[in-house]
Amino acid sequence: MAKIIIVSNRLPVTVGNVIKKSPGGLVSALSGVSTNNTKMIWIGWAGTFSSNADNSAKLKETLIKDFDCYPVFLSKKEISDYYHGFSNACLWPALHYFSQHIHYSSMFWDSYVNINRKFAEYIAANAADDDLVWIHDYHLFLVPQMLRKIKPNIKIGFFLHTPFPSFEVFRCLPHREEILKGLLGSDLVGFHTYGYLRHFRRSCLRLLNIESDIAQILVDKRFCKLGVFPIGINSDQFLKELGTKRFIKRRNELKKAYANYKVVLSVERVDYTKGILRRLEAIEKFLFHHKHKLDVAFIFIGIPTRGEVKEYKELLGQIQKKVGEINSQYSNIEYTPIHFIHKTIPLSDLCALYSIADVAMITPLIDGMNLVAKEYLACKIDSTGVLLLSEFAGAAHELISAVLVNPYDIDNVTKNLENALLMDEAEKSQRLIPMRSHVIRYNANQWAQTFLKELKQSRKSIKKQNNNAKFISEKVLSSIKKAKKVAFFIDYDGTLREFEDTPDKAKPTKEILQIISALARHANYEVFIISGRKEADLEKWFKGLNVALISEHGYSILLPKSDKWQMINSHIDLSWKKKVIKILSQYVSTPQGTSIEEKKSSVVWHYRQADPEFGKWKSQQLLGNLLEILTNENVVVSQGNHIVEVSSSQINKGFAVRHFMQKNNYDLIVCAGDDKTDETMFQINDARIVSIKIGLDETFARYKIADPILFREFLLKFTKKENF
Ligand code: UDP
Ligand code: G6P
Repeated sequence: MAKIIIVSNRLPVTVGNVIKKSPGGLVSALSGVSTNNTKMIWIGWAGTFSSNADNSAKLKETLIKDFDCYPVFLSKKEISDYYHGFSNACLWPALHYFSQHIHYSSMFWDSYVNINRKFAEYIAANAADDDLVWIHDYHLFLVPQMLRKIKPNIKIGFFLHTPFPSFEVFRCLPHREEILKGLLGSDLVGFHTYGYLRHFRRSCLRLLNIESDIAQILVDKRFCKLGVFPIGINSDQFLKELGTKRFIKRRNELKKAYANYKVVLSVERVDYTKGILRRLEAIEKFLFHHKHKLDVAFIFIGIPTRGEVKEYKELLGQIQKKVGEINSQYSNIEYTPIHFIHKTIPLSDLCALYSIADVAMITPLIDGMNLVAKEYLACKIDSTGVLLLSEFAGAAHELISAVLVNPYDIDNVTKNLENALLMDEAEKSQRLIPMRSHVIRYNANQWAQTFLKELKQSRKSIKKQNNNAKFISEKVLSSIKKAKKVAFFIDYDGTLREFEDTPDKAKPTKEILQIISALARHANYEVFIISGRKEADLEKWFKGLNVALISEHGYSILLPKSDKWQMINSHIDLSWKKKVIKILSQYVSTPQGTSIEEKKSSVVWHYRQADPEFGKWKSQQLLGNLLEILTNENVVVSQGNHIVEVSSSQINKGFAVRHFMQKNNYDLIVCAGDDKTDETMFQINDARIVSIKIGLDETFARYKIADPILFREFLLKFTKKENF
């Protein structure tokens, strides 16, 4: 039976002297996932180093048998380079906009690649083709693509637990292209917020030049879907804990201990993203303003984390120093304002603290989601308490009735802290009740079910697409078999041949020439290459193949065995060209990478090599400009694939196809193309026409084939004798 394979850097349990729960939000949330009857296994690092083979084998057996955890063993050196190095000293700061903290070395990267491969191979060894593989977080960015290579048919989902930064920051990362390509090996990539998804799409465009739809990206004949899935907490675990005796006992003890104080609580890993130092500054200001009545206790649970990375070590020292300064300034015999606990604490203590805290002060400078905010709400059974939350936590998108603050505005944080402590009970519950039901309802389980459902469905649409190509060729083949005279009107760029950066690089390959000449040899077929290209290109590439060449979207034709190009319509007016060239020349210096191409019947502005966004923006401006100036001319202004083209309105591919349909008695006419200019062929209303769009955009064509590779496979079928 198919199973779910969760893959993350850390297993949910860490092996030390004893086996205990691993820290952090990822593990907390995923531990709350139940999969009913489907078996779920977990692959990851067990948090320990392999000492000897016997111990490792024993440990592996226990972890698999008792926890369904399949450990990946890593050496000290691997952990140092892959985990502390590339993952936490390079990726983590980049993903959180701390580019000044990025430490890169090629040794880190090599190790990252090796460990990602190790994970991919280990998954492949334990996965069946119908399993769902769900990979988590930035430590494993390359695994989807690596696994796809080993197991092309397996469904792969990826969820990023951190923010995805804007392109300007993401591009600081060495190997950024490999990282994007790694992720695009997935069938579904999930983010906490739409903002992160938008940044990812933009990086794909800017760094890989891949345009995407809002919800999917087409890569290597596959769709990589994108989705927004804000993670929830393991609410059942918290609600269950709130009913235990140990929780009630701890809550009563803490209530008693803090009976004379209001409690402000912060819980987080000691990470520079969490804004701890700035929060301490806000607290210092607060204490300064209230030094005559000190009745607020600040509890900080600082979970130890990534102590081997320089910035984390330094941060811990800075926090301890600042806490010391504040405490020595504002303590008296009975009162110490800040309790900083640098430890993980048991769940019952955590829940007891959440439940007694008057305010949860959660002010990260940036955070993918922040589960602590949600856990605090879940533990507020009595509907009292205030959530003071940074607007830069992913959770702020959902928890809109929290008191939202900008953690960089320290005075404002202090002010909001004061307001929170003074807030009346009615307002507290009015804010808290809807947020609490939200976090209980949209919990980790709900989150995982939604993601997995979408992952399961992702492959269906891909299958449909592939089947589609097969279905079309079967249909067309059966019509062709009945026909005596068949015409093929085939566009070139983007249809027969993939695009290149410059048009001259997109020469026909040997495969293309073989297919076209095989088609042309067939006694019942007439083949037309109908392109926007100039006469010279077509002649250079296809002359001698017994095919007719139609240049410039239907301007002229070179018949097989003829040496002379003839105009298809000899009455066309081309006097507007000079004016157009003048306008286009104003658009060639900015952006860089644009050029003008003058043809006999048209003038084209190319921006394929320009900055893609700037180029697109400029093309809109140019379009507006041209339409305004050329209103009374016999021209069509059109936008194609990275081009703006001004051509004669007396010429188009549709006119050309009609011209030859009138002259000949075809039983069947196959028209294929990828671009807007091909739509004029697709719009011809004649039952003999089989129109095929190459690509998946909206079209008038009857059929769609995803890309040139599939289209060539399709054409090849009509050249094979055994098919007739
Ligand atoms: N947590 C923990 N040990 C503790 C206290 C808390 O593991 O001693 C958990 C906490 O319950 C929460 C997680 O750590 O689920 C922190 O997740 P969050 O999303 O807030 O931040 P992250 O660590 O993922 O950056
Ligand atoms: C964040 C990351 C997780 C990570 C957790 C704890 O939540 O997104 O991937 O597991 O922090 O960090 P650690 O380095 O201890 O695994």
